[in-house]
Amino acid sequence: MNCFQPVIKDFTHILYGGDYNPDQWLHAPDVINHDFKLMNLAHCNTFSVGIFSWTSYERTEGVFSFDWLDRIMDRMADDNKKVFLATPSGAKPAWMALKYPEICRVDKNGVREHFQGRHNHCFSSPVYREKVNLINSKLAERYASHPALAGWHVSNEYRGTGCWCPLCQAKFREFLQTRYQTLDALNSAWWGPFWNHIYTSWNEIFPFDLSDAMQIDWMRFLTDNCFDFMRSEIAPLKRFSPDKPITTNMMGFYHEINYWKIAELCDFIADDCYPEWNNQARFPRIAAEFSIKHDMHRSMKNGKPFVMLESAPSATNWACYHKLKRPGIHKAEMLNALAHGADGVMYFQWRKSQGNLEKFHGAVVDHAGSENTRVFHEVAEVGSLCSKLDSLVGTVTPAQVALVYDWESLWNIDLSGGPTQHNKKYLITATDHYKAFWNLSIPVDVIDSQRDFSKYKLLVIPMLFMFPEGYAEKVARFVEQGGTVVMSYLSAYVNESGKCYLDGWPGDGMRKVFGIWNEELDGFDPDSVQSICIRHENGIMPDHNQNYRVLEMAERIHSEGAQVIGTYGNDFYAGEPAVTQNSYGAGNAFYIAARTGEDFLTDFYAAISARKGIKKILGEKRYPDGVHATIRTDFENREFLFLFNMGGNPVTIELPDGNFLNVENGASCSGALPLNKLESCVLKRL
Ligand code: GLA
Ligand code: ZN
Repeated sequence: MNCFQPVIKDFTHILYGGDYNPDQWLHAPDVINHDFKLMNLAHCNTFSVGIFSWTSYERTEGVFSFDWLDRIMDRMADDNKKVFLATPSGAKPAWMALKYPEICRVDKNGVREHFQGRHNHCFSSPVYREKVNLINSKLAERYASHPALAGWHVSNEYRGTGCWCPLCQAKFREFLQTRYQTLDALNSAWWGPFWNHIYTSWNEIFPFDLSDAMQIDWMRFLTDNCFDFMRSEIAPLKRFSPDKPITTNMMGFYHEINYWKIAELCDFIADDCYPEWNNQARFPRIAAEFSIKHDMHRSMKNGKPFVMLESAPSATNWACYHKLKRPGIHKAEMLNALAHGADGVMYFQWRKSQGNLEKFHGAVVDHAGSENTRVFHEVAEVGSLCSKLDSLVGTVTPAQVALVYDWESLWNIDLSGGPTQHNKKYLITATDHYKAFWNLSIPVDVIDSQRDFSKYKLLVIPMLFMFPEGYAEKVARFVEQGGTVVMSYLSAYVNESGKCYLDGWPGDGMRKVFGIWNEELDGFDPDSVQSICIRHENGIMPDHNQNYRVLEMAERIHSEGAQVIGTYGNDFYAGEPAVTQNSYGAGNAFYIAARTGEDFLTDFYAAISARKGIKKILGEKRYPDGVHATIRTDFENREFLFLFNMGGNPVTIELPDGNFLNVENGASCSGALPLNKLESCVLKRL
């Protein structure tokens, strides 16, 4: 069978539950008793426990007690529930910070923090690593064979936010020495003669400089140091419980840590997901913004299902607006994660705390502790639906398209002085391209520049400013062997150190593959007008004799053999190429030279997909914005069709051929299916 093993061995259910903090309620046993009753009412089966509980285990240095956790773990096991047991390193004890100041971070001005907040320990501190190792060993040794233990939730939301303490600075220098070996190599990579930035000894290097190359390496170092810290955290877990999967909750596209690296240490991917549903007009876009995240998380383990480990069943307490999720949204959010490859959907948090910073954050159980709330009912309904989806577990999302989003390229473009200072918008641009496929209900994998892409029919490279060493060759080979690639403006400008390619953009040999030369970039103020004119004679977008708006930037490119599909409509370069196609080997290389709206991208990718035989789940018919479908399948006898209408009006969807069962209500359906505004459903093919 073509599917994956369940995240928790032999537990073939969709994981459903959330962050549970009984250590905040040890003084109130009735509350805990009530929680267990409510967990069953909500069809919950899995909880993350102990995320910030260090001092409850080690109130005095070296003296450990796990009484409350013993009781909760036993109770979870008795109730057939599973626990992702957390390591508590995300929030250090106050006593530890006082006794060992080196575990606290130091800011750029050399000021060391007092104990405060969380997620702010120094990753380099040997003392902190030793203390974490000890507490993790105690937990792992004690619970390794506990029947409730499903796996490990390592720390919480690892982040880079630099520490500039002497230990971190020394480690940065070591990192540079390993990377460059010699100062000559470093000075050359960093273009040292500029502003007299030539280093003659490693000790002259302090990570405070404006130089983009140094800052990019600092970002690489932060990821490396986080990776190294996490690896040391998980060593005792693997020693005592080698068969238990480990994960850590990522924060989507959080820019400071290259999560592809962290993913290497995870047995399965988990993430936190908090879309802000404020404005109906933006709902389709918001849904796509978290779909792309899910698709990346699925792609991080080659299609293996991930777990959405945290989400809010209603409003968060930190967003600008405390807008309640309107009826339908919560369910759609949960189903969307499943639709894009999750085998678990969980909440932050199970119960609202009575005090402190997150007391108003949405939770399954409100302060009143009642099951008679709107939110609880919605959670129980989703729980009931999840309990009918056992056969979804392990199924895959078949994608023929890969879209590239790359952290190192992000750092390169964001830290580069220009080419434009504003409107770089890398993630927004990647999402714009992704949204076109989302609109067309074409499944997409989201990969970084280090992943193999040879199996895909179509490779989409939006704004890949930095081409790492060897990448151009891979792209050339892919096209040569019959693949199709679409690349946009601002791609292949620089190498890994941010040095510009000198052979004309797109650089590093891409000029030949795309058959164009990108001579210069025009950046627009809001009043500038530019457009792309597509004439149907080109045969590629044959139905459209149309003009599309250009936004914010346009490159002046020259064809060096490429066929021109669209030309600019305005200004002194009117008539010059804006969209091109080059036949290279057995494949095709398309180039989009200007930033456009979703209208152009959707029409463009609809045409390319039709030419390349890429399957659209809902066929060629175009639906209003917000309609979206995915499938998950084992390519044998299990196929699930997920349907969403995130738009503001009811629609009727023409289902693919065949008969389906609506998993939630047992109704059979085929042909046309009406979907209300904000309605979503999951159908099983019969
Ligand atoms: C993240 C953290 C949680 C909590 C929520 C609030 O997901 O992991 O501990 O702070 O944010 O939204
Ligand atoms: Zn430090």
